[in-house]
Amino acid sequence: MLSVVARPLGLGASCCRGSRRAIATVISGNKASKLVRERLKEEVEKMKVQFCGFRPSLVVLQVGDRDDSNLYISTKLKAAAEVLHSIMSVNENQTVHGLIVQLPLDTVNHINSELVTNAVSPEKDVDGLSCINAGKLSRGDLNDCFIPCTPNGCLELIRQTGVSVAGKHAVVIGRSKIVGAPMHDLLLWNHATVTTCHSKTPDLPEQVGRADILVVGAGRAEMVRGGWVKEGAVVIDCGINYVPDETRASGKRVVGDVHYASANQRAGFITPVPGGVGPMTVAMLMENTVQSAQRFLLRSQSHG
Ligand code: GUN
Repeated sequence: MLSVVARPLGLGASCCRGSRRAIATVISGNKASKLVRERLKEEVEKMKVQFCGFRPSLVVLQVGDRDDSNLYISTKLKAAAEVLHSIMSVNENQTVHGLIVQLPLDTVNHINSELVTNAVSPEKDVDGLSCINAGKLSRGDLNDCFIPCTPNGCLELIRQTGVSVAGKHAVVIGRSKIVGAPMHDLLLWNHATVTTCHSKTPDLPEQVGRADILVVGAGRAEMVRGGWVKEGAVVIDCGINYVPDETRASGKRVVGDVHYASANQRAGFITPVPGGVGPMTVAMLMENTVQSAQRFLLRSQSHG
């Protein structure tokens, strides 16, 4: 049984209590990520001073389906070879400490994304998507791998609530390689009992109702209804969905995978969309890149 004390978070989360029903404390990813970025700035500054101007470096490889690119890439094989070649060259570049390949690969020529993510050197795989890093995470080697950024950010936001993960029942909705599957592993090795639900789970509302900690990465707008949520639960929403909204100049607005207006009547803590998990994902990518650069420095020191 999870007991949640309704109190404001140190990170300036807003806590509004209505006269009849409790409203969840909002976990601000904007504020939490700002603190992470400030801490990293200091660490990078220290490295710079200690190692003669050394700077952590990240490469983001984007595979685009643009006409001008297609002009040069005529066959599937050529396209894949080109991507792999770029990855190899970044792998070998000693001034780069992190490499991510933006997914999904945006190309008319099908390229096996497994092949691409596994071509990234595990030592630079700050996305944590290679089999090596995913395997270490699944076995609980948390200090010897890169943890994918979104789950890592979610865990950080859960920590901000002060609710401990150990011994809790956590439910994850979604089993993607980027969010759901690593989130399961991360919660498990932080000693929660974890249930992972997916599109074939027959009794989703019942499963959600058992969650002390609920992490949703389903990719379906407002799928989780407030009535399903356990009273006092920590609700982390990884969803980014655009829905039509005639009241906006753009004609659309962004919502999460959780129906926020009803879920915040039952949850103890909840992340907003936008301003929740999104900014933490970016902060964790920076964190992994700095960690990779620190490991690189340690290796170069021990080699000579
Ligand atoms: N596309 C959406 N999220 C991600 C992510 O975390 N990493 C990569 N490489 N691509 C993404």
